[in-house]
Amino acid sequence: MNEKHGFARAHTNIALLKYWGKINSDLILPANDSISLTLDKFYTDTEVTFSDEYTSNLFYLNHQLIDVKKMQRINRVLEAVKSEFGYQGFAKIESENHVPTAAGLASSASGMAALAGAAVSALGSHTDLTNLSRLARLGSGSASRSVFGGIVHWHRGYDHQSSFAEQIVSEDQIDLNMITIVIDRRQKKVKSTLGMQHTASTSPFYPAWVEATNQAIPEMISAVQNNDFTKIGELAEHSAAMMHATTLSSKPAFTYFAPETIQAIKLVEQLRESGIECYYTIDAGPNVKVLCQSKNITRVKRFFASYFDQDQLVVAKPGSGIKFTKN
Ligand code: PMV
Repeated sequence: MNEKHGFARAHTNIALLKYWGKINSDLILPANDSISLTLDKFYTDTEVTFSDEYTSNLFYLNHQLIDVKKMQRINRVLEAVKSEFGYQGFAKIESENHVPTAAGLASSASGMAALAGAAVSALGSHTDLTNLSRLARLGSGSASRSVFGGIVHWHRGYDHQSSFAEQIVSEDQIDLNMITIVIDRRQKKVKSTLGMQHTASTSPFYPAWVEATNQAIPEMISAVQNNDFTKIGELAEHSAAMMHATTLSSKPAFTYFAPETIQAIKLVEQLRESGIECYYTIDAGPNVKVLCQSKNITRVKRFFASYFDQDQLVVAKPGSGIKFTKN
């Protein structure tokens, strides 16, 4: 029996300037560039074993075998890796998510980045992180950014080769933390793929979204390079507000917001007006993420703890890029 093993750990990320809409859904080429923060606590560990003996791909998530029909994106990443290395067998994938369900954070970014990393390290060398970012992208757009730590820029590109992420600054160079207010732990009703597709094809605001985001990219890059928390926060909050405006202007209109989402937005504004600087960002779900500097984590958390339960508040700091050993 000829077996090849690989392991990778990748952290999840949260977009500061969002990716929202594709120009090519097979290659997952986005309409606009995006910029994200990789998070320390939340990650996926994945082991891939390729073997001549397997007759199909098998995927275990948290020790449970997953239905092959749900494996379309996983297969796409595996096929791309196999064709790069000229390998023809099948794989067993064993993934463990350390993205607590309580955090209400998506795990597709860390999951697909860890899968691409483990598959590449099983078949060959894993030194080319740019290429790894391209391969992770084929599983989930946001996964392209989870290959790197700190603050990361995904270049939208125009083909497979030109669409990849790169680091702007490392996790040690930025003072930016995120407190998630978990409003709903359930899976989102409108998955991001569907939500962005519907919005891009029906919202009259969509072209303005793409233009405004691409314009904000160089501003965010210089804000990050200068560790300018105010500018980072303002740009991030505006990006989230614009993204959600595209869902409200789509036809039929929809929103990811729950009543408590608006409540949390108002509380962020109130706290900021009281002199504690913080900003919100929101993804394709009702949970609100609050950005703040290290010196304010305790105060921000204490403030929200008087409106939400302790276990609804999850703190994360900047995290590192992909690793190929367990510790
Ligand atoms: O990569 P996906 O398909 O999970 O989409 C991510 C979409 C957002 O989280 C809303 C924005 C982003 O840039 O991560």
